[in-house]
Amino acid sequence: MRRGETLMNKQKETNREGWSSNIGFVLAAAGSAIGLGNLWKFPYLVGKNGGGAFVFIYLIVLVVLGFSLTLGEIAIGRKGKLDAFGSYNKIKKGWGFIGLIGIACCFLIYSYYVVIVGWIIKYLVIYLQGGAGKDPAQVFESFISSTTPPIYYTAVALLLTSMIVFKGVSKGIEKASKIMMPGLFIFMIIILFRVLTLPGSFEGVKYFLKPEFELITPKVIIAAVGQVFFSLSLGMGIIITYGSYLSKGENIIKDSLIIPVLDTIVALLSGLIILPAVFAFGLEPSAGPGLIFITLPKVFEAMKFGGVFGVIFFILVFFAALSTTISLMEVLVTFTVDQGSLKRENSVVFLSIIVMVVAAFTSLSFGSLSELKIFVGMNFFDFLGYLTDNILLPLSGLLLCIFVGYIWKKDEIEKEVTSGGDIKFTLFETWFYGVRYLGVLLLSLILLQSLGFEGKVVWYVLAVVLILQIIFEVLEKQGKLDFFKSK
Ligand code: PHE
Repeated sequence: MRRGETLMNKQKETNREGWSSNIGFVLAAAGSAIGLGNLWKFPYLVGKNGGGAFVFIYLIVLVVLGFSLTLGEIAIGRKGKLDAFGSYNKIKKGWGFIGLIGIACCFLIYSYYVVIVGWIIKYLVIYLQGGAGKDPAQVFESFISSTTPPIYYTAVALLLTSMIVFKGVSKGIEKASKIMMPGLFIFMIIILFRVLTLPGSFEGVKYFLKPEFELITPKVIIAAVGQVFFSLSLGMGIIITYGSYLSKGENIIKDSLIIPVLDTIVALLSGLIILPAVFAFGLEPSAGPGLIFITLPKVFEAMKFGGVFGVIFFILVFFAALSTTISLMEVLVTFTVDQGSLKRENSVVFLSIIVMVVAAFTSLSFGSLSELKIFVGMNFFDFLGYLTDNILLPLSGLLLCIFVGYIWKKDEIEKEVTSGGDIKFTLFETWFYGVRYLGVLLLSLILLQSLGFEGKVVWYVLAVVLILQIIFEVLEKQGKLDFFKSK
């Protein structure tokens, strides 16, 4: 039986398709990373938390954690050559559960993200028909609280995602990313020029970038870590899944640098577009749906040729968000294909139906089900956001750091990351010990904070973690922990 299973797995691995080019992989991974986190969260966080000073902190966290964990995830996927669950499990039996948390998280995030992609499509239609009019708040509220229209638009978003994933990794996802990502950049540059030539826009640039170091508190640093994580789609098994379709010779160290850089460029561009536009018309910046569905429509209404820029803007948001839902779906599909031996095509159909049911619930939570409170006064949509952002994401991030730092044998990771020594990685030791110590400590901190712990308790727990780390290091040096490690 075991033998049969292994043989089947081997066969699956060799039959597995893959990216047709490294750039295809990079664009698809960047596509997953670039999304609403960049467009509606980053500019607001920067403006609120110290402008240029926050950007500075963000960049440090990006290099320390963002790059490191992107590399960790790609390495796990490429080594395992299976879905997120299978890849962890293959490297060290019994650790697949980390992948399972990520996969569950993808399912939950997908179930609300796809609803928002539906709204984006609706807005694209609205702008193609001439704009959102004088009272965008009313247009938005009445649309999302209605019963069937948002569900129809959600279905369209889901169908588009499914059609691309249905076609497979290179013919579907890679091809779509190669169109959408360059398109996104070009559209962003066009809008950037328009916005920066508006009178009064400079106030927004100042709000966005003026460094105010006195605003930097530990909370702000924690917010930066959370944002890096969310924005890079880390801890979800997404980068593992995409990495599993990568061939052995590729330079994943370089890829792990390029993906966060692209993501950050889009985040910065977004700040340079959204805040100046909002300031030029004397409006207040905010985060979340209100920003792009209410505040920006007011800007487009007041701007010359605003209707045209509205269309361009919503296409760009659509590209950013669709490339993210594609990655969420692909994690689920790869899981069912690798573990459940489903055919990709069947899996896509099956999953689409399930996700559609949950997504319909999410959509209704803005209207007829808005009174249905699931957890401390949250509706279904808020609950999904809370559960994924505050609990599952930091938890699986922490487990990822523990896996890379403590479970996967150091020589083996080095072999994987450097393609057996072919690729130079001078900072390997720094990277490895960075994840082992800093990664684990930082993510423990985030998890504690997300769970609502504050003050002294946090420091006590972190001290205990540090002591455990040191004990581990000593015992490991004495060779007493080999049973714990991967082969
Ligand atoms: N990275 C995505 C964004 O910036 C959000 C996301 C997080 C998607 C986690 C998948 C998983 O919008």
